[in-house]
Amino acid sequence: MKVLVVGSGGREHALCWAIAKSPKCKELICAPGNAGISDLARCVDVSADDVAALVALAQSEKVGLVVIGPEAPLVAGLVDRLEAVGIKAFGPSAAAAAIEGSKGMMKDLCAHYNIPTADYERFDEPDGAKEYIRAHGAPIVVKADGLAAGKGVILCRNENEAYAAIDHMMIEEAFGSAGAEVVVEEFMTGEEASFFAIVDGEHALPLVAAQDHKAAYDGDEGPNTGGMGAYSPAPVVDAAMAKRIMNEIILPTIKGMARDGTPYRGVLFAGLMITDTGPRLIEYNCRFGDPECQPILSRLNSDLLELLMAAVDGKLDKVKLKWSRSSALTVVMAAKGYPGSYQKNTEIKGIDNAEQIAGVKVFHAGTVKKDGRIRAVGGRVLGVTATGKSIAVAQKRAYAAIERIDWPEGFIRTDIGWRAMDRKKTKKT
Ligand code: AMP
Ligand code: GLY
Repeated sequence: MKVLVVGSGGREHALCWAIAKSPKCKELICAPGNAGISDLARCVDVSADDVAALVALAQSEKVGLVVIGPEAPLVAGLVDRLEAVGIKAFGPSAAAAAIEGSKGMMKDLCAHYNIPTADYERFDEPDGAKEYIRAHGAPIVVKADGLAAGKGVILCRNENEAYAAIDHMMIEEAFGSAGAEVVVEEFMTGEEASFFAIVDGEHALPLVAAQDHKAAYDGDEGPNTGGMGAYSPAPVVDAAMAKRIMNEIILPTIKGMARDGTPYRGVLFAGLMITDTGPRLIEYNCRFGDPECQPILSRLNSDLLELLMAAVDGKLDKVKLKWSRSSALTVVMAAKGYPGSYQKNTEIKGIDNAEQIAGVKVFHAGTVKKDGRIRAVGGRVLGVTATGKSIAVAQKRAYAAIERIDWPEGFIRTDIGWRAMDRKKTKKT
């Protein structure tokens, strides 16, 4: 089968790496891809946001399956457009992707089907939102309804910050139309985890859980990013917790969406707060997490392409996944300045040398190959991933690999995995 992967991040490199291992994959194309992906797939210079051009590419290449990495083309209806011309695609329809594209839609679904999440209200004008904030007090969370490149969530320590957040979104229109509507919700406390299920409209198959580090700097300080590192398993999600997450959150969502006429197909990514009373949903995403996808797929011992095809064909009830018992951990190397502005076209050396370390794989994100040299062109640039018999071993290997990468213009967090280590220490004592 000929497969087209859409996207250019570390997530898409991990997807291409896993799909390329499948005996069923006869040819792999990626749009637009990156330097690492170009070693595995034929990269075609079509943007992941250009729905019309992606449909044309899939048609002219006669691909058997399109696998879509990022949310924007899903929310814009790429899957609907592909299906309309008879091309199979792994990912939700635009109507189902609204679970990420509209926070209000996702919250209403939770309320309707009794799915545990933060208490909330939706507003389309600032005065009502401010009244709600006054009545509920702080800490409180203000969220832009639409997609805002990961910046549309403001955690407010006091009421004044919350009023300012409302003005920022609704009056200054900082996120354009994404902030025309807002959700104001309860601030939840607990430990966060990322939980993924592959869904075929009716059945859901859980993947192993992961934890992500969203803050830019050590100690979870600094601005939020797309994710500076991740690891799997997530000690906070043991087998009993995974069962609760499936029964209380994932399955009611899938049943509800099918009943509402918008069945979900693709990967359903639940951002969770594991609280004293159990798992509560922070948000849904309609795609794999990045970097979470990198450690998770590093542990998958089953054929990913077969799994994705089973989801597209509605046959997930026939699939059983096999996982490696080892742990995996990814440290993101980002360009200095990220998530703000940063230098581009700096040279990276030493990746091959880093991959000589047992269990290490370097996934590329914002890289290009020019004249045989690897250059950084994005904010998040590499996902240095290692497996090992424990998170501690994987962590040691990942940081040893980073030592071998020569890229003075990059930076990392030095504490990826700290939560899992801390938990171990506490358990031992
Ligand atoms: P989101 O973009 O919805 O994932 O939110 C970004 C981050 O904000 C999450 O990963 C959480 O750390 C935090 N967050 C979002 N909503 C809440 C909430 N209701 N209570 C506490 N933290 C939250
Ligand atoms: N790492 C979190 C995300 O992909 O949204």
